[in-house]
Amino acid sequence: MSLKSNIHSENLPKHIAIIMDGNGRWAKKKGFLRALGHENGTRSVKTTVECCVELGIENLTLYAFSTENWNRPKLEVKTLMQLLISSLKKEMNTLQKSSIRLNAIGNLEHLPAKVRKELLHVIDKTKGNSRMTLTLALSYGSRDELVNATKLICDKVKNNIISAENIDETLINQHLYTQNLPDVDLLIRTSGEKRISNFLLWQIAYAELYFTDELWPDFSKESLYKAIHSFQSRERRFGKTSEQLKS
Ligand code: IPE
Ligand code: IPE
Ligand code: MG
Repeated sequence: MSLKSNIHSENLPKHIAIIMDGNGRWAKKKGFLRALGHENGTRSVKTTVECCVELGIENLTLYAFSTENWNRPKLEVKTLMQLLISSLKKEMNTLQKSSIRLNAIGNLEHLPAKVRKELLHVIDKTKGNSRMTLTLALSYGSRDELVNATKLICDKVKNNIISAENIDETLINQHLYTQNLPDVDLLIRTSGEKRISNFLLWQIAYAELYFTDELWPDFSKESLYKAIHSFQSRERRFGKTSEQLKS
């Protein structure tokens, strides 16, 4: 029996974020080049997106390329960028059919012009879709995001648009790349690594963390059901006591 039947529709995470890790090791295990690992990783992206839409998840954010990933061999970076362009082209129809709005976070200026163009094109075409927001973190680093937000806020203070006394959590939130997204409820990382790697540091303050040894190209619908099932079995106390939550 599929684990899907164990999922309670009234307690779904509103925002799932995934660190899609392990493409390289998946390829190595099979004696393939890393590029083939990335290519197979895109199948898991497709499956995960479809599955989230079916379940009624409103926000899915995928870590696709970090600020640190620019330090990989040039050829691998090029492969990843090409894969991104071809996936965007290929999946545009699916996004429209399933009413998925594409969104991107990160230092997009850094992306090659061709990637940026295709990305902005799909974002524009899907902007009216409302079933799910799919956010791709590209050239994304949480520290870069916080530096950027700090600069934006300082500029506003300097130009008397806001005063320093008015800086609060809401204001900081409004200046992050994720400004229109709710906090992350469930953060998943594949491949067995138990680290955050500069992903959404502010936004995961109260997220439930889920680590699996599965490598990203092996991540399936059942894997996602398992993660959501684990999420639903936890008590999110947000600093309160268990007794307070029950009364
Ligand atoms: C994740 O897989 C994809 C990206 C970071 C772009 P990796 O390429 O990091 O795979 P491993 O960690 O080397 O196995
Ligand atoms: C994190 O994976 C970034 C993405 C999944 C895009 P990495 O493979 O780059 O992370 P580290 O360097 O092992 O922490
Ligand atoms: Mg990795």
